[in-house]
Amino acid sequence: MNFYEDPEQAEAYVQMAVGYDGRELIARLRQHLPDGATVLELGIGPGVDLDLLAVHFRATGSDRSAYFVERYRQQNPAADLLILDAVTLETDRRFDAIYSNKVLHHLTRQELRLSLARQAQLLNPGGLALHSFWAGDGEEEMMGMRFVYYTPETLAEQVGGEWTILESTFYVEMEENDSLLLLLRRGSGSSN
Ligand SMILES: C[S@@+](CC[C@H](N)C(=O)[O-])C[C@H]1O[C@@H](n2cnc3c(N)ncnc32)[C@H](O)[C@@H]1O
Repeated sequence: MNFYEDPEQAEAYVQMAVGYDGRELIARLRQHLPDGATVLELGIGPGVDLDLLAVHFRATGSDRSAYFVERYRQQNPAADLLILDAVTLETDRRFDAIYSNKVLHHLTRQELRLSLARQAQLLNPGGLALHSFWAGDGEEEMMGMRFVYYTPETLAEQVGGEWTILESTFYVEMEENDSLLLLLRRGSGSSN
């Protein structure tokens, strides 16, 4: 069973993640996206960021783990939630922005390219994607999960021509420069 599908391991993650959230990432998103816009979060996990997104945006939460989706639904029965794999993103819904915090590093580089191409199809014209990654080189496996590390340069290699990179910068999660924020706009400069 996948780490995040297993209730015991998922709850261990919830405890480990206490005290961390994406409020700085969401503040960055708000500089580019008006309040009330529609935002899809990929990989909500415990849903801390989904709560924060929902303060300003019409937020839809998603995760590949049915355990996390059901966990959030029990706490927020009215929440708009989807079970979605970030690679295939099988939905016909459309959004103004797509957000994830420390999710897409679990994908292979090839899967990340597919995910970004699919995300562009789910966005309204001029839509935004904001994702965070662990910074570094190479990849490793921990607790049965893949961790792929990026620099601004290796991240840019995964971004297709349907996107404009607005920002690719280091930030601090636990220690200096341990994380990367990637902000994309759908469209290559003049066209959407
Ligand atoms: C490190 S946790 C981050 C959770 C949350 N964003 C947070 O900041 O606490 C990774 C999350 O991504 C989800 N995830 C991993 N691979 C995924 C995939 N391919 N598609 C969708 N969600 C995925 C996991 O189920 C888990 O909820």
